Amino acid sequence: METIRTPRIMQETSKSHLLKSRTLGLVPTMGALHEGHLSLVRRARDENDIITASIFVNPIQFGPGEDFERYPRDIEHDMEKLEKAGVHILFMPDIKAVYPEGFSTNVKVSGISERLCGAFRPGHFDGVATVVCKLFNLVKPTRAYFGQKDFQQTVLVNRMVKDLNLDVDVVTCPTVREDDGLAMSSRNAYLGPEERSAATVICRTLQAVSKMIKAGDVGPADMKKSLETMLKKEPLISELQYAGVYDTRTLEELAEYKKENLLAIALKIGKTRLIDNLIVEL
Ligand code: PAJ
Repeated sequence: METIRTPRIMQETSKSHLLKSRTLGLVPTMGALHEGHLSLVRRARDENDIITASIFVNPIQFGPGEDFERYPRDIEHDMEKLEKAGVHILFMPDIKAVYPEGFSTNVKVSGISERLCGAFRPGHFDGVATVVCKLFNLVKPTRAYFGQKDFQQTVLVNRMVKDLNLDVDVVTCPTVREDDGLAMSSRNAYLGPEERSAATVICRTLQAVSKMIKAGDVGPADMKKSLETMLKKEPLISELQYAGVYDTRTLEELAEYKKENLLAIALKIGKTRLIDNLIVEL
């Protein structure tokens, strides 16, 4: 595995592969890698000739008071995992190389970036769109791989690719879970033992509500109440940010079910913010 730290070298390397008609797969990450990230790498390996993974804790997608400084960093183990999973190129630029002095462009996907998580993390999705757009221009991937775990992010990236005519296929991969159902996340490392077991309330609730929707008993408004009631039973939840049924493309709350429905939850357990979702097809 080759490590590249300089944007210009990343671009030149990708260009030379493209000239040889090789397909390029990109897996963008912020590191502290787990099986969720590695599932994206494996999918990329199956579908492309050359795999680039990026590790960059992107400062502009963290708000003031969020966890940028304490975000888990574990480069040594990350490199071992990527090498073993078959990554050819690790792109790991410095902050200054990505955002040199004078940097002043912002990619904003209106609407999508303000809903759901966007309402609680102002500016977050502008930071994501901007860095993903830059990564696409640097790595020039044929295909880029994202996890359904961050469903809103996949909607945002797809919208940006369409709106800006970016020449990349966006591939969404299923959420990888722990044995007890908790969605894997680098932030799960923040949870204490009691918080860790309380966190399963999220996937348990999603599963239960998904069954109720499929049984056709309850409409979206009552479903929201059921969701909230189930979650409020867990005393370690310190803040319920949102829970409901949403349109999979616009992310707007639904008054009636559609063929595809996004069931999504965001909450805090102690100080740790957790999100999860399920797509319910009717
Ligand atoms: P990060 O949180 O490191 O996630 C990198 C990729 O891994 C994302 O596409 C995310 O959806 C996916 N992922 C995380 N947990 C997963 C799980 N349990 N199952 C499947 N996939 C999972 O998302 C980001 O970084 C950043 O916003 C980034 C896109 C890199 C831009 O900075």
